[in-house]
Amino acid sequence: MDRITIVGGVPLKGAIPISGAKNSALKLMAASLLSAEPLTLENVPQLADTRFMAQLLASLGVTVEWPRLSSTAYLEAKEIASTIAPYDQVRKMRASFNVLGPLLARAGHATVSLPGGCAIGARPVDLHLKAFEAMGADILIEAGYVKAAALRGLKGATIAFPFVSVGATEHAMLAAVLAHGDTELRNCAKEPEIADLAACLNAMGAKVSGAGTDIIQIQGVSSLKAARHAVMPDRIEAGTYAIAAAAATGDVLLKGAQYEHIAALMEKLKLAGVESETSPEGVRVRRADAALAPVDIDTDPYPGFPTDLQAQFMALMCRADGVSTIKETIFENRFMHAPELTRLGANISVHGSEAVVTGVKALVGAPVMATDLRASVSLVIAGLMAEGETTVNRVYHLDRGFERLVEKLAACGAQVARLGE
Ligand code: UD1
Repeated sequence: MDRITIVGGVPLKGAIPISGAKNSALKLMAASLLSAEPLTLENVPQLADTRFMAQLLASLGVTVEWPRLSSTAYLEAKEIASTIAPYDQVRKMRASFNVLGPLLARAGHATVSLPGGCAIGARPVDLHLKAFEAMGADILIEAGYVKAAALRGLKGATIAFPFVSVGATEHAMLAAVLAHGDTELRNCAKEPEIADLAACLNAMGAKVSGAGTDIIQIQGVSSLKAARHAVMPDRIEAGTYAIAAAAATGDVLLKGAQYEHIAALMEKLKLAGVESETSPEGVRVRRADAALAPVDIDTDPYPGFPTDLQAQFMALMCRADGVSTIKETIFENRFMHAPELTRLGANISVHGSEAVVTGVKALVGAPVMATDLRASVSLVIAGLMAEGETTVNRVYHLDRGFERLVEKLAACGAQVARLGE
């Protein structure tokens, strides 16, 4: 199994191009199932997760043309060949579950494995299923599978989510665009990926308004047409490299990053003593070789501090000059990086959904491993700050969500390498 080694203490200097957003690309790719005409997506990141989604779509009948080195994917679902997404596929990547809504809307039925638990918490899909039921689908859960049917088509409905869910908001949108009549979604997630999905669906001929606010309105249409859409830049990747630049006393231009998407992080970085400025090219992040101030964070739905940057921020705070508190409010088990950071000499105590990080004078490199994507990259960030060599094992987690991570960091001077077994 591949691993990454990092020799810490080297400032990061240069420019990092920000790739297309993984979390957006996965839903946009699933949208291709809604139309018999081609969807061409630009700026699609080459990642294990997006490749995996392409394979799943191909197994459902989508013609996929997406060369290995290209960021443009051509997806054409002339006919749906299968409406079944088996356990083995959904188990490997939770976002696979997002094919259920489009299959149900286009073909009138679908059988998709329940995603089950995952390392960062239980992550149920009850809100997704309630939304489809409200649109008139019959839902049966049997032997770990969701069997959904709406043989005469889905019907528009008013759906008020009891709490904010990114996945449920997007999934309901993916189904409602082809429903008969109007749908109103209330208490929606407001993440930029949702506006990106709406823009793509509208380019395909859907009628979606209000994405990015609490209330999304969708007028159902009978079919969708060919479209071309560029995936938004990955705000989690941008935020991760902003934290990496701060960690490694760097000066890095995040090319293509959009400041407003990472504003919650940048405000916290500013409190920690990190400077930033925006330009038409992107966001520049700079930290002089001065002490980092400790900063508390609470994760929250957008526009709050993203849970997907919590682990990285915790890594940074390990070297702050004082005590910071990190509160995770979205997922119940998202501190698995804490014991690994402790292996590098960090001082972290976890009490339920709160972690107290007492900054230390130095971290020291060691072998570490992580159980999820964002946790893995927090260990890379810690490695950039640590004295000596850190080895991050289980690189496949990083391959799921960070395009060319080693190349991007090395181009800014980091001493980082990927080693095979
Ligand atoms: C998406 C992102 C993930 C990010 C998360 C929160 C993708 C592929 N993943 O995940 O990277 O960390 O948003 O920003 O886009 N919940 C329920 N029932 C449901 C749905 C969700 O109880 O039917 C709970 C979840 O367990 C969680 C909370 O709601 O505690 C928020 O989850 P949600 O916003 O749905 O996250 P995902 O869409 O899974």
